[in-house]
Amino acid sequence: MERNIKELISKMTLEEKAGMCSGEDFWNLKSIERLGISSVMVADGPHGLRKQAEGGDHLGIGESIKAVCFPAACATTSSFDTELVNEMGKVLGEECQAEDVSVLLGPAVNIKRSPLCGRNFEYMSEDPYLAGKMAAAYIKGVQSWDVGTSMKHFAANNQEYNRMSCSSDLSERTFREIYLPAFETAVKEAQPKTVMCSYNKINGTYSSENTYLLTDILRDEWGFEGYAVTDWGAVADRVKGIQAGLDLEMPGSGGYNDAKLVEAVKNGDLDEGLLDQAVERILKVVFSYVDHRHPEAVFDRDKDHEKAIHIETECAVLLANNGVLPLKKEAKVIYIGEYAENPRYQGGGSSHINASKITSALESAKKKGRNISYVKGFPADKDAIDEKEQAKAIEAAKNADAAVIFAGLPDVIESEGYDRKNMRLPDCQNKLIEAVAGVQQNTVIVLHNGSPIETPWADKAAAVLEMYLGGQGVGEAADRLLYGEVNPSGHLAETFPIRLEDTPSYLNFPGDGKTVDYAEGIYVGYRYYDKKNIPVRWAFGHGLSYTSFSYSNLVISADKMEDNETITVTVDVENTGNVTGKAVAQLYVSDKTGTYGRPIKELKGFSKVLLNPGEKKTVSFELSSRDFSYYNEELKDWYAPSGIYEIAIGSASDDLTAAGKITYTTQKLLPLHVTGATTLGELFKDPRTSPIVTKMMGQAGGIMSGGEEEQEQTVAALGSDKEMMEAMMTGMPLKSLISFGGPEMGAQIEEMIKLLNEQLKL
Ligand code: BGC
Repeated sequence: MERNIKELISKMTLEEKAGMCSGEDFWNLKSIERLGISSVMVADGPHGLRKQAEGGDHLGIGESIKAVCFPAACATTSSFDTELVNEMGKVLGEECQAEDVSVLLGPAVNIKRSPLCGRNFEYMSEDPYLAGKMAAAYIKGVQSWDVGTSMKHFAANNQEYNRMSCSSDLSERTFREIYLPAFETAVKEAQPKTVMCSYNKINGTYSSENTYLLTDILRDEWGFEGYAVTDWGAVADRVKGIQAGLDLEMPGSGGYNDAKLVEAVKNGDLDEGLLDQAVERILKVVFSYVDHRHPEAVFDRDKDHEKAIHIETECAVLLANNGVLPLKKEAKVIYIGEYAENPRYQGGGSSHINASKITSALESAKKKGRNISYVKGFPADKDAIDEKEQAKAIEAAKNADAAVIFAGLPDVIESEGYDRKNMRLPDCQNKLIEAVAGVQQNTVIVLHNGSPIETPWADKAAAVLEMYLGGQGVGEAADRLLYGEVNPSGHLAETFPIRLEDTPSYLNFPGDGKTVDYAEGIYVGYRYYDKKNIPVRWAFGHGLSYTSFSYSNLVISADKMEDNETITVTVDVENTGNVTGKAVAQLYVSDKTGTYGRPIKELKGFSKVLLNPGEKKTVSFELSSRDFSYYNEELKDWYAPSGIYEIAIGSASDDLTAAGKITYTTQKLLPLHVTGATTLGELFKDPRTSPIVTKMMGQAGGIMSGGEEEQEQTVAALGSDKEMMEAMMTGMPLKSLISFGGPEMGAQIEEMIKLLNEQLKL
């Protein structure tokens, strides 16, 4: 059905238009019956439906309908599987149609700047490339059912502490390279119907009234076509919001801010055309849902529960294994830890799902007749040593073939609304793990947490299986993985540092409450650990399997590349072990041009491949100029310096076993304006100025531009060595040459500056 939205808007009163730009209540938009505009509902998200039938709150406190809690994004991103996440999105889309929800409030794609951020469990990765690809897959899945998504929280919302007012202060380059690309990729590839702005300020301006963010970048640069909505209560100045490109206010302000909009239009402070534009964007999305209802959609909770289990089996990460896993069928195993009975499977806050059912590992083991017994060992909800339980656990562990400890973070430690204070497991758990591992060499740790923890016992554990917050099927998924019914294939979407003090933002997290300085810049996650050569517990991309894989025969389609070209890289992946498994081939690009301030390597491709024992498949990746580029602030654009780049592929960021090289040539020229402070080095490097300076500088110029004869003459004359001379000249600003040359030189230099700037304008 074709709607003439503009005509509809022309029939609306000013008050109706202002009203359309805010919610009726917590979850519903307004209706205008006389114009056939019906009210639609939005609901959280992201890993299940938090539909509140009555009343509302955005804190995960009040009741919501029974729904299926899928693994949180910390887990799903570890699958490195875009098809899987797309499938999950499709299931959620159908659930939304069945429950009459027009927009699902997710995905949440903020970068994990610090492991302490309370909401990391909902976020995807420390790496923007991975987060962007997974977000796009999720959005396409949900939206395939004509249900909208709301990609959030746009942008630079990387902590919970004072999230509603604090300013995230960061450089343009850091913003462009780390905190924006996940949003960018998803907008360009999947066009989410809505984008939710964050509560915080960015360099002093609230996201909800940030023209640069909501209009210049989001719409003009990336081509976003949907509506921008506030995070719940993120409005500061409503009029400024509309002017900046913020369309919908949620949950609304009981009409207070609507009245401000009306007043501003009446007194000429707000162009009514901008209000019309916001209404048009909102109605477009409303009708894209209303006009595409799917009566065939069903919310089959049992079926979707099975899907939640399957998804989690593809996400869990086998971090360590000395061969104890998979457990043997006949082995006598003791399960320790309350999470075996009451798993921790989701985080607190607005994403909290009223789970339709929960399977625990204990229940699954019993159902399957596994040879296990169980001791609680420690409580799930607090840090308290229970001497009796601990003694029982140690005793039982001594007499078993293997002990499996179900460890994790209590609910209260990890939630929306506040950050963690440290990176530790509760002491009672660490102590028990040490004690049990001391008497039982086959001690396996199964983790339930939404963000990395310190693992002081890592060397004593025979295996570590990271389940993350794995959704309501986490127990059955753990069972299948522990006993080898499914081969683990998840890989870390974030680094596991050894200590909190090692983390990149340690000195600047969470700031003083007013501002937080992203002083580590682009060096977030592995970009930082790599560059500083800081040992980590488990590297980004790490993940083991019950089989092994090899990577060979890396072929690049060309050995040279220029701007706007693409190249193809292929590699052979082989299953070299005895069981079927899934490899995650990861491709990283390294700038070897000698350019200052670039990470050692960056993820630019990944692919999950199913391989039978002995099977070999060729995996293919496409790379574009952007994949070699950094954001150059002077150019205000992406820029790949000319020179050599390495392309390396393997199973983890610290295990890259196949590599090749390519020579890149760019025609892009960086802006240059010559002043007295410009150095000779800069002038000799730039092809536009180099010939002029070489000529004018005579002998000294010969040194810099590499003219053999002049170099020899000068070196001989000065009795100096070439490198030293070069180094000294490189850093010499033009103004300083005057001091050495006297009045004539002064005039010459001035003339030269004029000439060079004229040349640069051509
Ligand atoms: C959260 C959002 C959520 C919204 C609605 C806010 O507090 O930050 O992620 O979608 O509430 O519940």
